[in-house]
Amino acid sequence: MDELSLEYDVIFRGGQIVDGTGAPPFVGDVAVRGDKIAAVTPAGSPRAARARQEIDASGQAISPGFVDAHTHDDNAVLTMPEMTPKISQGVTTVVVGNCGISLAPAVLPGDPPPPLNLLGGRECFGFARFADYAAAVDKTEPAVNVVALVGHGSLRVSAMADVSRRADEAEISAMQEALAEGLDAGAAGFSTGLYYRPNRAADMDEVVCLVELVGKAGGVYATHMRDEHVHVLASLDESFETARRGKVPLVISHHKCAGRENWGRSVETLPVIAAAAEKQPVGLDAYPYAAGSTVLDSDHVAEDIPIMITWSEAVPEASGRYLGDLAKAWGCDQREAARRLDPAGAIFFQMAEEDVRRILAFPGTMIGSDGLPHDKHPHPRLWGTFARVIGHYGREVGLFPLEVAVHKMTGLPAQRFGLSERGVLREGAYADLVMFDPAAIIDAATFEAPARPALGISVVMVNGSVAWRDGMAGARAGRFLRRAGT
Ligand code: ZN
Ligand code: CU
Repeated sequence: MDELSLEYDVIFRGGQIVDGTGAPPFVGDVAVRGDKIAAVTPAGSPRAARARQEIDASGQAISPGFVDAHTHDDNAVLTMPEMTPKISQGVTTVVVGNCGISLAPAVLPGDPPPPLNLLGGRECFGFARFADYAAAVDKTEPAVNVVALVGHGSLRVSAMADVSRRADEAEISAMQEALAEGLDAGAAGFSTGLYYRPNRAADMDEVVCLVELVGKAGGVYATHMRDEHVHVLASLDESFETARRGKVPLVISHHKCAGRENWGRSVETLPVIAAAAEKQPVGLDAYPYAAGSTVLDSDHVAEDIPIMITWSEAVPEASGRYLGDLAKAWGCDQREAARRLDPAGAIFFQMAEEDVRRILAFPGTMIGSDGLPHDKHPHPRLWGTFARVIGHYGREVGLFPLEVAVHKMTGLPAQRFGLSERGVLREGAYADLVMFDPAAIIDAATFEAPARPALGISVVMVNGSVAWRDGMAGARAGRFLRRAGT
């Protein structure tokens, strides 16, 4: 048989097909031609024709590639385009620009202030126009597809000499102009990080002036809320009202009830989110760990939870050590120790396991790693999130069946972020696929050894090219995904 008469490029034979919609799995073949899925044929129907490459998928699950709904990979996709932490766990698309922090558009007067420094140093902030960032991603061809939000914190630091107050009219117009450029150039939406210093002084009116543009353009609004601690309910209300006024779909980022005094309160927050979602489009994302990670701010050091240092410019050897131990060794309190480490990042063991489970199991919850790719000793969510949701929370804990776990990381985020023909396994969709062993898939990254690839994932395909196979990196075939209509 000569090459030309082969109908398909690749056929996965006899896999358990988990199509991303939440429907129960069925056994069948998946055929790929070019960058698209050309056929999905259930077992028993006439076998799909021959292909250049046949992959035996018996005993394996085949699902759409995972969409990481919440990342800070803006710079990583350019400087570490292999994207090993993500591709190795089956992620084929990352949503960047979360928590008000985006690489573009931004023009910084000096070093990026925290938390913008989570993306890297001053040298990486070179994109005055969002269009230039999108072009740089396309030129780099990272291993994963990229969906980007414009961050309010980045806009503020670029437009305002003093971010400790509300923006004035001229500053708001400058931010509107920058945001409009981003939306025109294909940004999927806008994010805020109202908890963080560069963003904190913005009131609802300022945010509404910006999200209105996002609503008109058909984008989404994602928010790291002002408060995930005692005032979490007030922050939810603020988020709903902001999105309502801006006429924009809302995504609550990394939903949690942080701080010991709030443990268990997801019994209050989830019904409030469910009620709001009946009146307006509301989504949320979460990661499968009872610890968070971000910059270390000496104003926000809770002494009653363990805090592990992920990086420190002042004391690099502190990476991987506990703040409490450092404070003891230095003969000071933890707040003072945090001051000595500054600028620095940390892991905060600030959530209750019962809340993590309740939030993950909530039907509207998407999976987002919130991984920090530039940290020296990163939170294990960077390498482990997706395998952990399926293997630990799905299979071992029994929080949800396989098809629900997969839906939360494929069809659901694709729908929320308006990714057409992604996140589903059907004829005509893009061939972003993962083949994994549903009985073996599990995260291997831990808080002590965080940079370990997940286990049980055998093949990852991005836009029809094999990007990962049996522990080896393959082609880099990711694209910048512009918002529909741009
Ligand atoms: Zn955040
Ligand atoms: Cu984040």
